Amino acid sequence: MAARNQVWRLARTPPEGWPTDGDFALHDEPLPEPGDGQALTRTLYLSLDPYQWGRRRSGTEQPGDVCHGRTVSQVVASRSADWREGDYIFCPAGWQSHGLVGDGVDVFGYMFPRTLDPQLAPISTAVGVLGMLGLTAYAGLVVQCAPRPGETVVVSAASGGVGQVAGQLARLHGCRVVGIAGKPEKCAYLTDALGFDACVSHLDADFAARLAAACPDGIDIYFENVGGRVFEAVLPLLAQDARITLCGMISQYGNTDGRDAAEVWRQTGAPYFARRAVQVHPLFVGNYVASHQAEFLERMAGWVASGDVRYKEDIWQGIERAPEAFSAMLRGDNFGKTLVEVAKPRLQ
Ligand SMILES: NC(=O)c1ccc[n+]([C@@H]2O[C@H](COP(=O)([O-])OP(=O)(O)OC[C@H]3O[C@@H](n4cnc5c(N)ncnc54)[C@H](OP(=O)(O)O)[C@@H]3O)[C@@H](O)[C@H]2O)c1
Repeated sequence: MAARNQVWRLARTPPEGWPTDGDFALHDEPLPEPGDGQALTRTLYLSLDPYQWGRRRSGTEQPGDVCHGRTVSQVVASRSADWREGDYIFCPAGWQSHGLVGDGVDVFGYMFPRTLDPQLAPISTAVGVLGMLGLTAYAGLVVQCAPRPGETVVVSAASGGVGQVAGQLARLHGCRVVGIAGKPEKCAYLTDALGFDACVSHLDADFAARLAAACPDGIDIYFENVGGRVFEAVLPLLAQDARITLCGMISQYGNTDGRDAAEVWRQTGAPYFARRAVQVHPLFVGNYVASHQAEFLERMAGWVASGDVRYKEDIWQGIERAPEAFSAMLRGDNFGKTLVEVAKPRLQ
């Protein structure tokens, strides 16, 4: 039987609160036809990321649109000089089993497709530690906050895709690294396998006191991924001249109170920021692609190859499970970078 395209399309906009089954609809469609200068791709890995929910809730994605997402794909037929059959590529093919790459295909601003060398690193890392997630950690920690040996660095959502890399980069810069994560097995992984100095669970009733005990000299750098009550526990511990990279606020992405989460965050932090001369660096990874991606890829590939940076992936099987995996990730039931394995590569 000829292959068909399995496509998740957004079912309604703006979705309310946190994702539910009714927000997505799975369609069985003919394969897209590549035009001149285009190639047909088969999705191998789909990356599920918190920002995708922001796109959906803001209306950037409309009902009927293919749900956006970055993928590692393989070229199966080509009418382009740039893409050869069998090539492994990074591209934003979205939540579907097949896609197009090449002339006229939307690259969503900064997600330029590129071919991958499977000899250099496992191909899934192109949407993880060697992709935008790794670059986010690198830009936020190394470029924006310039960590110095001996400083205390706190990373929230520390076992997730960005957090695990940010914490290890801080360790490589000689910092004392304290992670904030949920379940005990995540904390144990961070200290035992990734070399964090301590990890505190935000699920503990005395979380704020435990965080204070783990940071006896205060916090010099805070890598913010979560917001809300985690941020409130960090604030009183910020040292003089502390730096914050404001990477994300995942705890707020399903809010329905109508308030601007970033504004609430700034107002909550303002008294501490002023008193301690705290520098806040808002982060958008797209701003660092042109300036830092090449440097990042070279350095991170070396750290991954040497084992100085390790990574954990949380891999779900089958495109039909994408919404389930997405919801699990947003509520903290993932352990590592969330991916869906959509198909196995075809060896050439
Ligand atoms: N600025 C940028 O350009 C940029 C780029 C990429 C990502 N980001 C942001 O970076 C952050 C992390 O993204 P990621 O891809 O690495 O996601 P992730 O960490 O792989 O997954 C999300 C994690 O957030 C934690 N979490 C969820 N709800 C929480 C809550 N209410 N309180 C505390 N922790 C909670 C959970 O970990 P626990 O179980 O440990 O709580 C969950 O595993 C997100 O805020 C994302 O939007 C920003």
